[in-house]
Amino acid sequence: MGKGDQVTPIIAGAVHRPRSDEDEALSGQFKLRQRKYLTCCGCAAALLLILAVVSLVLAFTVFRVKNPIVGMNQLTVTRLEMANGTLRKDVNVTLLADVSIKNPNVAAFRFGNTTTTIYYGGSEVGEGRTPGGKAPARRTLRLNMTLEVVPAKLVAVPTILKEIGTGALTVESRTRVEGRVKIMNMIRKKVVVMLNCTITYNVTSQGVHEACWRHVSF
Ligand SMILES: *[C@@H]1O[C@H](CO)[C@@H](O)[C@H](O)[C@H]1NC(C)=O
Ligand SMILES: *[C@@H]1O[C@H](CO)[C@@H](O)[C@H](O)[C@H]1NC(C)=O
Ligand SMILES: *[C@@H]1O[C@H](CO)[C@@H](O)[C@H](O)[C@H]1NC(C)=O
Ligand SMILES: *[C@@H]1O[C@H](CO)[C@@H](O)[C@H](O)[C@H]1NC(C)=O
Ligand SMILES: *[C@@H]1O[C@H](CO)[C@@H](O)[C@H](O)[C@H]1NC(C)=O
Ligand SMILES: *[C@@H]1O[C@H](CO)[C@@H](O)[C@H](O)[C@H]1NC(C)=O
Repeated sequence: MGKGDQVTPIIAGAVHRPRSDEDEALSGQFKLRQRKYLTCCGCAAALLLILAVVSLVLAFTVFRVKNPIVGMNQLTVTRLEMANGTLRKDVNVTLLADVSIKNPNVAAFRFGNTTTTIYYGGSEVGEGRTPGGKAPARRTLRLNMTLEVVPAKLVAVPTILKEIGTGALTVESRTRVEGRVKIMNMIRKKVVVMLNCTITYNVTSQGVHEACWRHVSF
């Protein structure tokens, strides 16, 4: 049985030689096609793998949304009017805050209206509003924020006289910058940056000293 099986193809091969060539050619073509198909599959898989790796690397580097950094560079008192040895109650005390927003991302950080609130002894004594804007990619945006402290609200806090007697007045400011980073229409991330500062006004020298804390939340 086994012998017969082995013999038959040889005979068949001898008799139909041209067809065998055809068959061989056909099977060769088939093998070639199969190899091409496999190569193609391999290439596609490799390409997909490379794409996946590149995407992953990009996701963790370039496309990762990083925290913008808000900083207070300088704070100056631009208006403080005294009358008869005390603060004039009808004129706001004005401070100019030089704020920088550093954007480390590859896309712009767009933010909306920004509000800074000033607190003294736990109560709100003033505020400042700054229109929204855009910190370009990998750039630092400088902003001038005007803050106004309402004297009437300030003197309403009972500890004020005692504190002024020590030669310094300490207030707190809280700035909230809310915006979003959009990278190539694919990644959108909302970012909220907070900047809390302790502002100390030296009554004698009229200088301002500030210390700030940053806080970011997504
Ligand atoms: C300062 O005091 C004088 C008299 O004591 C008074 O006439 C004047 O209105 C006071 N000025 C202010 C701004 O309160
Ligand atoms: C931002 O403030 C401007 C005027 O100060 C106002 O017209 C605008 O509606 C505000 N935008 C938002 C989103 O609150
Ligand atoms: C003083 O500042 C407050 C905001 O803190 C504002 O509403 C008010 O109009 C200002 N007053 C004057 C006289 O500028
Ligand atoms: C901020 O104010 C200072 C002094 O008034 C001015 O020199 C500077 O150009 C201002 N910066 C911006 C970004 O408006
Ligand atoms: C900043 O102020 C907010 C309230 O506006 C508070 O929740 C937060 O704890 C403060 N952060 C720091 C670091 O003081
Ligand atoms: C205010 O400034 C003066 C002069 O710079 C300094 O001698 C004094 O110690 C300061 N006062 C406070 C409370 O920091």
